[in-house]
Amino acid sequence: MKHHSHARVTLGGKLSAVLVAAGSSVGLGNIWRFPYVAGDNGGGAFLAIYILCVLLLGLPLMLAEFTVGRASHRNAVGAFRALDSRWSFLGYNGVLAAFLILGFYLVVSGWTAGYMVRSLTGELARLFSAAEYEALFAEFIRDPWRPLVYTGLIALATHSVIALGVRKGIERSAKVLMPLLFVVLIALSVHSLLLPGGGEGLRFFFRPDFSQVTPSTVLVALGQAFFSLSISIGTMVTYASYFKPDTDLRHTALNVTILDTLVAVLAGVVVFPAVFSVGIAPSSGPSLVFITLPGIFNGMPLSMVWSSVFFLLLIVAALTSTISLHEVVTAYLHEEWHLSRRAAAWTTTLSTGALGAVASLSMGVLGGWTICGLNIFDSLDYLTANIMLPVGGLLTCLFVGWRLDRQVLRAQLTNDGTLPFRIYRLFLVLLRYFCPVILLLVFLDNLGVF
Ligand code: PFF
Repeated sequence: MKHHSHARVTLGGKLSAVLVAAGSSVGLGNIWRFPYVAGDNGGGAFLAIYILCVLLLGLPLMLAEFTVGRASHRNAVGAFRALDSRWSFLGYNGVLAAFLILGFYLVVSGWTAGYMVRSLTGELARLFSAAEYEALFAEFIRDPWRPLVYTGLIALATHSVIALGVRKGIERSAKVLMPLLFVVLIALSVHSLLLPGGGEGLRFFFRPDFSQVTPSTVLVALGQAFFSLSISIGTMVTYASYFKPDTDLRHTALNVTILDTLVAVLAGVVVFPAVFSVGIAPSSGPSLVFITLPGIFNGMPLSMVWSSVFFLLLIVAALTSTISLHEVVTAYLHEEWHLSRRAAAWTTTLSTGALGAVASLSMGVLGGWTICGLNIFDSLDYLTANIMLPVGGLLTCLFVGWRLDRQVLRAQLTNDGTLPFRIYRLFLVLLRYFCPVILLLVFLDNLGVF
């Protein structure tokens, strides 16, 4: 293994590794995507399968990525190259996926910012019927200007954190934003639990009905788990490259996984009692948060306050994730193309901002630009979630399970033998056999082979 020539920043305090990585994991995937995917796939049974996917596939893969990052102290491309130069393509897959995901993630983050402003101005509280909320959302995302402005604002907010650097920007923002997110989430869950008729929502979410489960439920749960944990595209490789030598990778991965799952579960606790309390079908799809929820908030006392707080929560969750995606690209440009960090950050902001603008406009005026029948926004989502993520995950398992020097692997997992790792064998079996087989099946299914 080559040694890095320049001194590299590392994160500070003990909690930092957990908070920074959890900041990446916890995002729109947990609060916007998880409740509607769970709602569409039968509630409780989906939750049970999701948790199994997180434990059996997500956790080993996150540990594998942490290993690659900290063993090399490099950006995603440099990391794989330093460990085995034939595998640097896996790093490119990650950097490209991060770039493409950021393109559409900025747009959805922008919508949440737009909806927070609409809550604050009272615009959301003026409408009443579900059809009116639907029309409002459709008109908003089609509008050529407003979503663009919000996408740009989120890109600039992300840029300003990245420009401050790893410690002053990424680490400090995670230390403020993550606790804020938990406080807001807990306040909202308590509020939801107190709603009349909400108990039925909790039953739907927690009581598994396995008669609803089909093979596709498992595949959806797996895709959701990977997206939600931010794994298989080099984000955790990049973040772990800033971890300190005494950071315990095992505990960090376990804590991040638990926090991420906890936030998804709490988001379900916020959303489902509210949905059932007003008698709406829980399977309302991606519009659940932008169409259904504003209507629900509207029926409550202090509706403006609750809906503004909810959208604030979404923005906070989104920002710590956009920051992590941005850092994957910035670190790559800085270290591989030898741009100054400032120039690397601006290049990333301007290029992902431009992609975001095209994705945003593809909801309206550029709707005619399609790839295989999908507009640009949906193509970015499809390409990353259904192809680049499972392929990246599969190859990362194969690389760490089969190619990576065992001594390097053990040294990273046990901090040079100072920590025990009792389930090392189980970890290896999962990484070498179980995960690749399951991922291969998922990938083939996505391609429509079955
Ligand atoms: N994990 C984030 C979420 O749940 O919203 C999204 C994400 C961030 C995916 C970073 C991938 C990534 F590298």
